[in-house]
Amino acid sequence: MSMNAAISSLKQSRGVIERYREFLPVSDSTPIVSLGEGTTPLVYSAKLSARVGRGCEVFVKNEGVNPTGSFKDRGMTVAVSKAIERGARMLICASTGNTSASAAAYAARAGIECAVILPAGKIARGKLLQAFVHGAKIIAIDGNFDDALRIVRKLGQRENLAIVNSINPDRIAGQKTAAFEIVDLLGDAPHFQLLPLGNAGNLTAYWAGYREYHGNGRSKKLPAMLGFQAAGAAPIFHDKIIERPETIASAIRIGNPASWKQARAAIDQSKGIVDLVTDEEIIDAQIWLARHEGIFVEPAGAAAIAGLFKCCSAKDAVYSFKKIPKGSRIVCTVTGHGLKDPDVLTARMETTTPVAADEERVLRALGL
Ligand code: F0G
Repeated sequence: MSMNAAISSLKQSRGVIERYREFLPVSDSTPIVSLGEGTTPLVYSAKLSARVGRGCEVFVKNEGVNPTGSFKDRGMTVAVSKAIERGARMLICASTGNTSASAAAYAARAGIECAVILPAGKIARGKLLQAFVHGAKIIAIDGNFDDALRIVRKLGQRENLAIVNSINPDRIAGQKTAAFEIVDLLGDAPHFQLLPLGNAGNLTAYWAGYREYHGNGRSKKLPAMLGFQAAGAAPIFHDKIIERPETIASAIRIGNPASWKQARAAIDQSKGIVDLVTDEEIIDAQIWLARHEGIFVEPAGAAAIAGLFKCCSAKDAVYSFKKIPKGSRIVCTVTGHGLKDPDVLTARMETTTPVAADEERVLRALGL
């Protein structure tokens, strides 16, 4: 490739819209707003595979390495491109943090304003910083995510305002590309797809992606969809709205998910399950993944790993891997980067007392 050809190819978008254009609601006249999202690592984990046993293979889809550190970017590139095409002047979203970080970044890229409505005091520090640095208008409300989304639904009816929450079908369309990537890499769908469940858009999107690929012959099978909610914020598991959801995994602190019905249908159609994981199980899984595979995810991101552990060993698990068909392929999606939410782990970090700047002292401190 000549230097000029290389540069002109770089100037084109390299994100999920370019890769999966034929499956997305875009045309040649859609202005593409991209930060090069997608193509995230699908990491084989020998250690998780050994935990499951029976010759099963476990892969971790690391969505934390997207441009703003979460899977939201896949949906945001489509939602923002379409909003610009329709002439929107401002983006608006409710968020537990990641949607607002992503919306703010894509709005900056597109040169459009962005308003984010957030539950006061409940957004991880890194995510709030992202919304700020990208120049979003930040409104904190005295209420939770469900209240924020209710307000956004109303405000979104105004002209020139585009809602970029997952109630916008363009978001779901973009997010289904994660399922495409998994099938493209594995050569078929996995037997099991594990995901955290919050507002329930992502599980809905994965199922749409798997079905679409299956429908056009790109995969032979469909996975069972296994969704995991935090124990204090588990409306789908309990089949009732949770008025005051509570969990350390602030990203999935949601009591009345917008895509509740769609996710329930996906789980039922796929012969999957929904289960819950405690905050302690979530943090244990987060630290386990960081220490054993070098992948640092935020607490909500670790819910699928906590779910996998539960399926492997817990007596009260809704689905047990003890009887899992031999050689099953399992994909756990980890949804957001660990650096977004430093506070949850800082409390556990041992404080180090400085030693003298001396080789001997350092050796002694290392116990060598
Ligand atoms: N994991 C992370 C890191 C998230 O930020 C979210 C949702 C989920 C999982 C759950 O995905 O909502 O599609 O079921 N975060 C939204 C937000 C609600 O506002 O950032 P879901």
